[in-house]
Amino acid sequence: MDLLKPVSSRFIRHVLLLTCVLTVVIGLSIGCDGVKISHFHENGVVASVSPIASQVGEQIFRQGGNAFDAAVGVGFALAVVHPQAGNLGGGGFALARDGGNGHIIALDFREKAPLASTEDMYLDNGGGVVEDLSSLGALSAGVPGTVAGLHALWKEYGTLPWEDLVTIAAKMADTGFIVDEYLAGSLADYQDQLSVFPETESLLLPGGKVPGVGEQLILSDLAATLYLIAAEGSEAFYNGFIADSIVACMAEHGGLITAEDLQQYQVMWRQPVHFEFDSLDIYSMCPPSSGGIVMGQILKLLEPYDLSRYFPDSPEYMHLFCEASRLAYADRSIHLGDPAYYSIPGRLLSPEYIDERRKLIPVDHAGSSDAIEAGSPLKYESDETTHFSVCDKHGNMVSVTTTLNATYGSKLVVSGAGFLLNNEMDDFSIRPGHPNLYGLIGGEANKIEPGKRMLSSMSPTLVLKDDKPLLVLGSPGGSRIITTVAQAIVGFSRFGLSLEEIVSQPRFHHQWLPDVVYLEEEGFFVDKIQALIKYGYHVQERSKYGDLQLIHITAEGLMHGASDPRRGGAVAGY
Ligand code: DON
Repeated sequence: MDLLKPVSSRFIRHVLLLTCVLTVVIGLSIGCDGVKISHFHENGVVASVSPIASQVGEQIFRQGGNAFDAAVGVGFALAVVHPQAGNLGGGGFALARDGGNGHIIALDFREKAPLASTEDMYLDNGGGVVEDLSSLGALSAGVPGTVAGLHALWKEYGTLPWEDLVTIAAKMADTGFIVDEYLAGSLADYQDQLSVFPETESLLLPGGKVPGVGEQLILSDLAATLYLIAAEGSEAFYNGFIADSIVACMAEHGGLITAEDLQQYQVMWRQPVHFEFDSLDIYSMCPPSSGGIVMGQILKLLEPYDLSRYFPDSPEYMHLFCEASRLAYADRSIHLGDPAYYSIPGRLLSPEYIDERRKLIPVDHAGSSDAIEAGSPLKYESDETTHFSVCDKHGNMVSVTTTLNATYGSKLVVSGAGFLLNNEMDDFSIRPGHPNLYGLIGGEANKIEPGKRMLSSMSPTLVLKDDKPLLVLGSPGGSRIITTVAQAIVGFSRFGLSLEEIVSQPRFHHQWLPDVVYLEEEGFFVDKIQALIKYGYHVQERSKYGDLQLIHITAEGLMHGASDPRRGGAVAGY
């Protein structure tokens, strides 16, 4: 670990400059260049990982669409221009506020385990985990939910014709779109894995080559699939040509998804997790995502502490945050799973329980995760889920996180239909105590069962104050999604950070097991890191992660957003 790397937060830079603690720090100019922060808009705003997708949202607003129309258009656009995570073959969650009546809803379009799944499907005869089986190829795919999810959002709240919203994406795939630096770099990084399956190579690496920056990428099969969905609705995905193509793909590559799985797939409307923090009303995703409960525990554990005495990179604050995270993630791994299969204790967010748990936070030294089995570090940096935030002048707020799980999911494209399948099955606990791609472990609550939804960390979130819209936010990052969003909320509420500072502040993460604090590389000064080590923490630098897409709504109802500088995203609105 290079302990001498400088911080990248402009906030920290300001503080240091203002207090004259440092007059010259070599390399401090890293700053938060690249943050895309928007002007104030009156009608509607979108923040997403893709400038093209955000502009699709703006275009829909200009045509008179509402935030739900824009979210549907952006979701399909991401399936074309952001194949790393935007998807038809994956799943996700949406948190939304209906501006008409103020109701807040949670929509679950998470993938499901195929009906033929078994608890030990990724184990060999000796009970060992077969490498890559849960993360690569057909057997790693859950039954996709995205198309049903976007359709349900539109059906309930949309105002423009479905066909028009989906056709925007279909046309982009048909006529091609310009490959930007970010996509070209990602395709180059994953070239070997994407070449494993010929159907994937021919879609994303035409002629066996990574498309160059500025080249036009045409995705004809995907265009045909999208035109079909545009014309016939989500039915077209779960029955007929597209469904048949998925089933044929399973037969060819040894997967389990059947026609029956696809026909039976249904989204679930759920009650969001709600809790108060600093008199803000926070709404986030309920099980089968762990996001809302874990975030709620972290923030409620922290609430009584006077955090505003500290800075976002103060060891004192980081210590408290890590201890709260340790407790919350420990509960995650034991108590959370699909509520249709596992009875989740009702007390996880009760004030009495939180008060009890808070007593376990040591004042001046790191706690211990008391590992039953040593957790192994994240196996690799799978960084491509995607989040987009949308809101409009009617008070509609839409926060959507969607994913194929790993970058490009299972790496397997459905032949003839032109889209990637997820590898979400890896989010199950494939063997008690065995860490998944994000180093998370689990047991009974999240074991594989036919038709079950795998536990997630995705945390699309809405924040309201006095019943009025305030923030729409969310991020990718696997298990680190929850701490990324929680740190953004603390940054807003306790440290008074600007939107730009919130999306660019250096991130840190603790998830109980492994018993390590992950620090974003180049994010923290050596004295801060040494202070954490002195507390007793095991510290590890990891590459930058997360991609916050944040919208703030002022008391006057004006909307502005910020897109994380870590990726190529943008805010658009009017
Ligand atoms: O549902 C989950 O928690 C994971 N499948 C999310 C994966 C993810 O965020 C990957 N990239 N950042």
